[in-house]
Amino acid sequence: MTTLLTTLPVPVPAAVPDAVATAVSRGSVLAYLVAALLFILALSGLSRHETAQRGNSLGAIGMGTALVATVVVALTSDPGRGVWVTALLIALALLVGATIGTTLARRVEMTGMPQLIALLHSFVGLAAVLVGFNSYLAPDPTALELGSFHLGEVYLGIFIGAVTLTGSVIAFLKLSGRIAGAPLTLPGRNWLNLGALVVSLVFMVVFLRTPEHSTWSWVALVAMTVIALLLGAHLVAAIGGGDMPVVVSMLNSYSGWAAAAAGFMLDNDLLILTGALVGSSGAYLSWIMCRAMNRSFVSVILGGFGGESQAPSPRPGAGGGEGAAPEEHREVDAATVAGMLADAHRVVITPGYGMAVAHAQYPVAELVEKLRSRGVRVEFAIHPVAGRLPGHMNVLLAEARVPYDIVLEMDEVNDELGDVDVVLVIGANDTVNPAAEEPGSPIAGMPVVRVWEAREVVVFKRSMATGYAGVQNPLFFRENTQMLFGDAKSSVEDIIKAL
Ligand code: TAP
Repeated sequence: MTTLLTTLPVPVPAAVPDAVATAVSRGSVLAYLVAALLFILALSGLSRHETAQRGNSLGAIGMGTALVATVVVALTSDPGRGVWVTALLIALALLVGATIGTTLARRVEMTGMPQLIALLHSFVGLAAVLVGFNSYLAPDPTALELGSFHLGEVYLGIFIGAVTLTGSVIAFLKLSGRIAGAPLTLPGRNWLNLGALVVSLVFMVVFLRTPEHSTWSWVALVAMTVIALLLGAHLVAAIGGGDMPVVVSMLNSYSGWAAAAAGFMLDNDLLILTGALVGSSGAYLSWIMCRAMNRSFVSVILGGFGGESQAPSPRPGAGGGEGAAPEEHREVDAATVAGMLADAHRVVITPGYGMAVAHAQYPVAELVEKLRSRGVRVEFAIHPVAGRLPGHMNVLLAEARVPYDIVLEMDEVNDELGDVDVVLVIGANDTVNPAAEEPGSPIAGMPVVRVWEAREVVVFKRSMATGYAGVQNPLFFRENTQMLFGDAKSSVEDIIKAL
């Protein structure tokens, strides 16, 4: 918003002395450089538990530096409307932005973060669209020198921004449960997407070839905007079920490219750099998550996956397919689980979304401490897409002060599960589903934590309901699995009492 304000064109000469203008310009370049370095350090810090908090603080300092520099540049470079009017506009924008941001951040639960992030991405998309139209209506003098290159920036900026805007709004509506999560599979949907791209390219040629601000250039720009808005909504509507995590990080990437496009239009180096950092890190994260779910990035983008919840094929202990008698599950109580844990040498805990919903991380941390003080080896096995956003489980466990060195990645534990006495599956479902190893299952090929290889498995959940992907879980019917029904937090507290 602040950067948007700086572009409001007032063709009046600067009222600040030249020396001040030069000092501000040099100072802003330096401040932007420092901010960019802090953003890079923030990203590198956020990649490890131990340094995540420092990374977050560095990012906040970088953003503060960038914001102060941008405000100073705006105040000194655009006194045409009067410095007080500029200051008032900026103060208003900051007030509105800070009020919305603070209110949302205070209210949001950890489980509601993905939808909040999706909503925030839609603001970036909207900003890019607004900056694009603003920049076309009233380009600044440097942009005018660039001629059709600037027009290309405007066109692409609006296109990426519009796709991000509606794609993020649909992701928000799906993730918050306001619309159904199932994929929208229109006939020939890939051709529709391709058609939208081709028509947008044709309009781009019209836009660049016709005189600026002529009727045809406006028709091309507005028609492309409408097409891009529809394309964004359709792209995300076609993605369903277990692929939604990738969509959030993909939109994160799009919002970065939209910000970079806005940076080109505004001739703002920091925005270009920050946008590129967000765009590329979002793309990399999407790739990591696709690999974690054994899905190709292209097949996720093309959508249509994760709609039906087929039961896996019938086989002994597999939960039953069509025609098979419903399999029995075994229930267990907290006192018995406490006994199993007291006798165990090695315990692995696999947390999932249910632990987050129940806020069970605090009693879980207490249980871990108790077991460790009795000499039991306890570790966590974290699936890369456990929960509802990347790193969800790690953040919760860090919050509850679980030592970092016992929080392990799925791959670090999977081969050793045969040596484990008890696995506690706390509010996880899809990420421990053996159906992923059966061809034909909707989640076939997704790497999972092979908890069933342990001697005993206890599953903490409230019912026999399926997980996020809507796929039946044969683990619940295995001979070495017992179900501990109830809210995960109360169940863990009951075990602590019994211990
Ligand atoms: P899920 O498969 O969604 O399973 C969560 C389980 O927690 C459910 O079976 C639910 O069973 C149980 N539960 C809910 N509230 C509970 C409570 N208060 N106490 C006890 N149990 C409770 O979770 P997961 O294993 O973590 O898998 C994650 C899924 O979400 C994957 O399909 C993944 O693709 C998707 N997803 C992931 C992300 C990222 S990036 N991590 C983002 C979006 C979606 P009951 O209802 O019977 O209690």
